[in-house]
This record gives sequence, structure tokens and C-alpha cells, in this order.
Amino acid sequence: MRKAIKTILGASVVAMSFIAPAQAAGDAKHPAVIDWSFNGPLGTYDRDALRRGYQVYKEVCASCHSMNQLSFRNLSQEGGPEFTEAEVKALAKEYTVEDGPDDYGDMYERPALASDRFVAPYPNDNAARAANGGAYPPDLSLINKARSGGPDYIHALLTGYQEAPDGVEMRPGLYYNPYMAGGKIAMPSPLMEDLLEYGDGTAATVEQMSLDVTHFLNWAAEPELEARKRAGFMVLIYLAIFAGLMYASMRKIWADLH
Ligand code: HEC
Repeated sequence: MRKAIKTILGASVVAMSFIAPAQAAGDAKHPAVIDWSFNGPLGTYDRDALRRGYQVYKEVCASCHSMNQLSFRNLSQEGGPEFTEAEVKALAKEYTVEDGPDDYGDMYERPALASDRFVAPYPNDNAARAANGGAYPPDLSLINKARSGGPDYIHALLTGYQEAPDGVEMRPGLYYNPYMAGGKIAMPSPLMEDLLEYGDGTAATVEQMSLDVTHFLNWAAEPELEARKRAGFMVLIYLAIFAGLMYASMRKIWADLH
């Protein structure tokens, strides 16, 4: 009986090993696993990376992608890039938003305030599609949570553009990227060496910009990460102390009962 089970198990393992690669071939390439500073039970965001990441978003990605869950003032909140309030005011003021109606019922334009949301590049979804050959550039507020693989996937995608292999036909307006399901994406490779000049003097390599913007997008999707991990840690400490006290009192109680 045992022999029969072993044979069946063995046979299914062999069968699986044939099936698995066949499935993987039709699928997207697996992203490399990155050792992000925010991983692990005590992980935290790197403030400098968040600031640089905001700069990449602002100067590169924001021309096509909105981030409509974020307000400028989030950039100064604890656990984020922690720009000063004056810095945030200045950042917001670079944008113009529509407000109103005024006393005459007219809409008017004014410089953005810290309390305003990030300004979207297109007035509506149709305009976004029309400007991108029919493809919709998704809002990036929650993208790190919305895609399996999270930050590892986003970084792999941004740095993974390649020439299409022989035999793969590319329609104009599509670009080969093995990390995208199906291998084709309507976003042209957004990063190239020295595309921008970092405020803190870091060399703006493709790898660096991608890591930074992905770091920033992770904070946007999970701004409460540090507080959550801190709370978890405090609970563990509490439980450890509690267990110690329980043990001590147990010993005391049972000590007399010999
Ligand atoms: C020229 C416009 C443009 C720029 C600039 C741009 N994107 Fe995109 N992006 C797009 C479009 C269009 C799509 C939709 C692609 C598709 O569905 O094939 C997209 C899709 C994406 C996706 C989703 C991929 C998926 O899994 O579906 C991510 C993530 C992304 N972009 C991140 C970025 C980041 C980060 C930057 C800045 C470094 C950036 N993009 C810059 C146009 C742009």
C-alpha cells in the first residue's frame, strides 16, 4: 500500500515538473526579489529615496499618470518623504487648479495649495487614452498593491525593456517587456540614464531612478506601513513581558504546593 502511494506521488511530481515550465513559458517573467528597506517586520522607508522618488514621479511619470489619492500635504506627513511645510507649499504652487464658482458663478484658476490633490495630467480618461494610442495610463496611487509582485514587479517592469525577440511581432505603439503579462506594453520605456538631475547629487542611473520611484510608489500605496510595523513590535514586546510575568507568578503559586 505504502509503495503504491509512493509511486503515485512520485509520478505526480514528475508530471508536475513537465507542466510547470510549460505554463511559465506563456506567462510573464518573474521579477527579481529586492531587499527593500521597508521589507521585514522592522522595515522603514528611506526618506532620501522617497524624496528622490517623488522627484522622478513629478518630472517623468506625472506627464502621463495621475496619483489622485495623494494631496500635496501628504508629502510632509510623518512616515513619508517629510518635506517641510514650506517646501510643500512651494511644490504645490507650481501647479494651477480650477476652483469656484466665485460670487458671479464663474469657475476660476488659482495656484494649488498644500490641501489640494496632486494635479492629474489629463482632464479625463478619454483624453488620457487619446494621448496614449488608446492605452490608459493607470493612476499610480495604489499600483504597488494592485499588481502581484508589488515593488519587485514595478522595478522589474521599469528596467526590463528589451528588443523584441525574433518571431515576436510588435504593432507600432507597443514595446517589448518580458515582465508585462503577454510581453507587450503600450508605455514606452520611461527612464534613461541622466534623465534628470537629483537635488541631492545622487547619480541618476536608470536603476537608481527606478528604485527611487518604486520606493515612493510603495509609500503612496502603504503610507501607514511604519506605524503598523511599530504597533506590531510593541504588541510583541508586551506579549513577551506578559509571558514572563505569567511564568514568574506560576512558579510562585506552585512553589508552595509540593
Ligand atoms: C508617455 C506616457 C507615460 C509615461 C511618461 C509613463 N507612463 Fe507608465 N504607462 C503609460 C501607459 C499608456 C500605460 C498603459 C500600458 C498598457 O496598458 O499597455 C502605462 C502603464 C504603467 C504601469 C502599469 C503596468 C501594468 O502592469 O499594467 C505602471 C506601473 C507604470 N506605467 C509606471 C510608470 C512610472 C513609474 C513612470 C515614471 C517613471 C511611468 N509609468 C511613465 C504611459 C506612461
